[in-house]
Amino acid sequence: MTTEFDMSGKVAMVTGASSGFGAHFAKLLSARGAKVVVAARRVDRLDSLVEEIKSSGGEAVAVAMDVTDPNSIERAFDQGEAAFGTITVVANNAGVADIRSALKVDEASWDRMMDTNLKGVWIVAQQAAKRMIAAGVGGAIVNTASILGLRVAFGQSSYCTSKAAVVQLTKSLAIEWASKGIRVNALCPGYFLTEMTEAAFASPDSKAYLNSSPARRAGEMDEISGPFLLLASDAGSYLHGIALPVDGGQSIGNM
Ligand SMILES: NC(=O)c1ccc[n+]([C@@H]2O[C@H](COP(=O)([O-])OP(=O)(O)OC[C@H]3O[C@@H](n4cnc5c(N)ncnc54)[C@H](OP(=O)(O)O)[C@@H]3O)[C@@H](O)[C@H]2O)c1
Repeated sequence: MTTEFDMSGKVAMVTGASSGFGAHFAKLLSARGAKVVVAARRVDRLDSLVEEIKSSGGEAVAVAMDVTDPNSIERAFDQGEAAFGTITVVANNAGVADIRSALKVDEASWDRMMDTNLKGVWIVAQQAAKRMIAAGVGGAIVNTASILGLRVAFGQSSYCTSKAAVVQLTKSLAIEWASKGIRVNALCPGYFLTEMTEAAFASPDSKAYLNSSPARRAGEMDEISGPFLLLASDAGSYLHGIALPVDGGQSIGNM
């Protein structure tokens, strides 16, 4: 299994690498031998991550990317490719959350959600696939969806809708690109402590929810490592279009 999770010789891009899952995926890919292109808007954070990866003996480069801007996505791929060659592994992970009642979702917040969580994921995936196909190589795209793409939570209508669409996008791209050697799969994390969930985690409601979930706790960051590597590495070579919950059983639900 160690060999199958080996990523040496691969060039990977991680979007939303400036914090949370993205920073974790970048370090994980590097530790397994990949050269890593780290992308997000907060470039200062990316620069520190690159330093950290380099000081552990890895290779990484930081590229500015705003996933709501297609030109910025294209530029980031150009820069990553110039540094390390064709990107064949993509952690398509950038995303935002928005907790507010459906009656208070306005057009601007809806658009921001869809532009980031859905359109951004689509354009990054398409950009990656076009370049792999042009270079005559296959690869793996891992979209970060959510268990809220499989079920719903109160007060998160735009987020749940965006993540459900990412699950369908994942399956749609998977059937079109499988024949080209490109695997597209999605991770559906449950609750993990990151900057996105920090405030929610502090609330009594979240604690009660987690205590009533099957595993009775949130996920630890390293518990997403194996599932992510399974989808990103050759260990998952026959996996196409799956949406893998990593959630301590939260998405099963108890009736
Ligand atoms: N934490 C959880 O429990 C959980 C559960 C299920 C799914 N997820 C998903 O996991 C992914 C990562 O979230 P996280 O929990 O790690 O939260 P996080 O720490 O807040 O990370 C979000 C990342 O997305 C990036 N991002 C946001 N908008 C962007 C934009 N317009 N362009 C480029 N990058 C952008 C941010 O970078 P910049 O601000 O620097 O651009 C940041 O690096 C998200 O898709 C989220 O929906 C999280």
